[in-house]
Amino acid sequence: MTELLRPDDAGLSRAASLLHEGQLVAMPTETVYGLAGNAADDRAVAAIYEAKGRPSFNPLIAHVSDIAMAEGLVEMSDAARALAAAFWPGALTLVLPLRAGAKVSPLVTAGLSTLAVRMPSHPVARALLSTFGGAVAAPSANPSGRISPTEAAHVMAGLDGRIAAVLDGGACTIGVESTIVGFDETGQAVVLRDGGIPEEALAEVLGHPVGHRAEGAAISAPGQLLSHYAPEGAVRLNVTVPEPGEVMLGFGPMACDLNLSESGDLAEAAANLFRHFHALDAMGAGRIAVAPVPETGLGRAINDRLRRAAAPR
Ligand code: TXA
Ligand code: MG
Repeated sequence: MTELLRPDDAGLSRAASLLHEGQLVAMPTETVYGLAGNAADDRAVAAIYEAKGRPSFNPLIAHVSDIAMAEGLVEMSDAARALAAAFWPGALTLVLPLRAGAKVSPLVTAGLSTLAVRMPSHPVARALLSTFGGAVAAPSANPSGRISPTEAAHVMAGLDGRIAAVLDGGACTIGVESTIVGFDETGQAVVLRDGGIPEEALAEVLGHPVGHRAEGAAISAPGQLLSHYAPEGAVRLNVTVPEPGEVMLGFGPMACDLNLSESGDLAEAAANLFRHFHALDAMGAGRIAVAPVPETGLGRAINDRLRRAAAPR
């Protein structure tokens, strides 16, 4: 039985003691729910892979409560510090060289010499991290290859009975995963995954445009498997007129079955994206048509998730 915990003092201390025992606790973050385990505990991290059915080559993000905790895990360059100062706590993950002697299970990095770190802003995630007092490894709290959860009920639907507890912090406000930024051999920031922080905002802080992961490039986010974030139905993109039998997922003012944002607001669309995917599964939608979404700001992260949902499986 998976415990559903309220995010009050009792729930937080129960969640922290479960983490100390090496158990797994799903926690809300501002992006999506994360499946947290003690990042320093091999068995806890192995249990994360096991609960998700996740391929073991796919490394995890270490979540920290403050900069000091991050500095203890990775070597931060000036550019990394500038991005952290601007966007932490928040929806930015930085991939940086693992510090020698860092207290992180090698299963977190899946053997890489870099570690992905993020300081979440969700008050419940922050409270859990500081009550626990260490870093937690936390992938999205869904079975591998399935839709990321943006509500506690989504976590329960996918992982009930496989994890110790879910901390219920309500619906996630951003709704898509963090933006992952790595650094190339010259120290330039490279976006490895589009996410909650648009690359325009990164460029503004750095004072120059950021690179984007080129297919086949030396650094990449290995978890970027093509078929991912997928509802059960077949997904067709950039549809203006649905075919008979298709369920229409709209964007902007239009006739449709579900709308990401009637007013065409990208932040609202991001927050609704996975919730609508879950709803499409719940209604048994076999064929899903999706309206075009503009490729700017948060639209890039939305379109990335939509392309993965539409990819051949
Ligand atoms: O918003 C988020 O980032 C959520 C919440 C829970 O924080 N977490 C999340 O984790 O999306 P996950 O495990 O679903 O995705 C982590 C991504 C994967 O694509 C993985 O390959 C990449 O981060 N990653 C992790 N460590 C890496 C590393 N050392 N180098 C490159 N990519 C890495
Ligand atoms: Mg995921």
